[in-house]
Amino acid sequence: MQETRTLLVTGGAGFIGSNFILYWLKKYPESKIINLDALTYAGNLANLRSIQNYPNYTFVEGSITNKELVDNIMDDVDAVVHFAAESHVDRSILDPGIFLQTNVIGTHILLESALTNNVQHFHHISTDEVFGSLPLNTPEAQFSETTPYDPRSPYSASKASSDHLVRAYGETYGLSYTITNCSNNYGEYQFPEKLIPLAITNIMDGLKVPVYGDGMQVRDWLYVQDHCTAIDLVLHADKSSNTYVVGGLTEDVPNIEIVKMILKIMGKGEDMIEFVTDRPGHDKRYSVNWSKIKTELGWKPSVSFEEGLEKTIHWYQENRHWWEPLKAANQEFFKKNYSK
Ligand code: NAD
Ligand code: TYD
Repeated sequence: MQETRTLLVTGGAGFIGSNFILYWLKKYPESKIINLDALTYAGNLANLRSIQNYPNYTFVEGSITNKELVDNIMDDVDAVVHFAAESHVDRSILDPGIFLQTNVIGTHILLESALTNNVQHFHHISTDEVFGSLPLNTPEAQFSETTPYDPRSPYSASKASSDHLVRAYGETYGLSYTITNCSNNYGEYQFPEKLIPLAITNIMDGLKVPVYGDGMQVRDWLYVQDHCTAIDLVLHADKSSNTYVVGGLTEDVPNIEIVKMILKIMGKGEDMIEFVTDRPGHDKRYSVNWSKIKTELGWKPSVSFEEGLEKTIHWYQENRHWWEPLKAANQEFFKKNYSK
């Protein structure tokens, strides 16, 4: 398929955004990408080194909260793919203010600019966490596109607000939009503060893996490449004002089981597990019913959880030079957050 649109990708130096840019330019080399990223602790241009000189790729360092900068860029843009956010629940508990600035105010500035510049389409990347927490051991209870919003952390509240703003701009001003609410992603280039890369890199360093509370909480896990194919399909769907939930699993896997799976693949024992104080307001269970995107757009995950975990572990083993400096530079946060 010929793809000649110019995309403004926000947050393209982060985990999912950089995977998406690499995926998109490989598949659609004629398309142009402008990557606007503030390079916070989570942004890393090393992820994009392989395409940094590609003529159809432009990097702009700056914040989505900078209205003048956003307006200047938006002039040439056909579609916005909005990843930029503060994304870590634990950090939102320590310092919620920046989550409101980036996730709410930043999204508003992008929406306003997209509207006034007649941008064709706005795709917003959101999370299943906006739907709140499901009870444990209720396999029939799942999030879908019609689940009422019930965010419970400063992070999910800020993402819920941004979703509401996107819909408001669609309904009120006619901005063409789509939203994907995806589950927990994992894979290459994920900042090692999140469960899976934290576990892998701690084990590689001979450190214990902190498990919050009793470790029985459940997340749905989506391999990042599968998330990219879902966004691709949504960006090519002939549908506006539409929301899709995206997930990767069909049955519950508690956190403790994930840590045990990682330890087993890495040939280490369960003595590497350390139960630590639980996260305040810790959501118990997320589970996603992704049948709408499957039925309407033919999407389904292509990588099993076991295969995705193995690929991810292998990548972190081969790329110590990528994650080691990130952990070293964020020692204060790691010490404060992951202790007993
Ligand atoms: P990330 O934290 O790895 O990356 C976020 C990126 O946004 C970084 O490059 C950072 O520099 C940039 N950024 C932050 N503030 C900015 C600002 N004010 N202006 C411009 N850029 C800014 O996040 P991620 O895991 O790649 O998540 C991307 C998106 O996907 C987020 O919107 C997140 O809410 C959503 N999401 C993530 C997950 C997940 O499991 N990681 C799951 C569901 C939804
Ligand atoms: P995380 O990767 O932070 O994603 P989210 O909070 O957005 O779901 O956490 C995933 C799950 O793992 C969550 O239930 C919290 C838990 N967790 C731990 O038990 N230990 C850890 O060190 C981390 C980072 C998370």
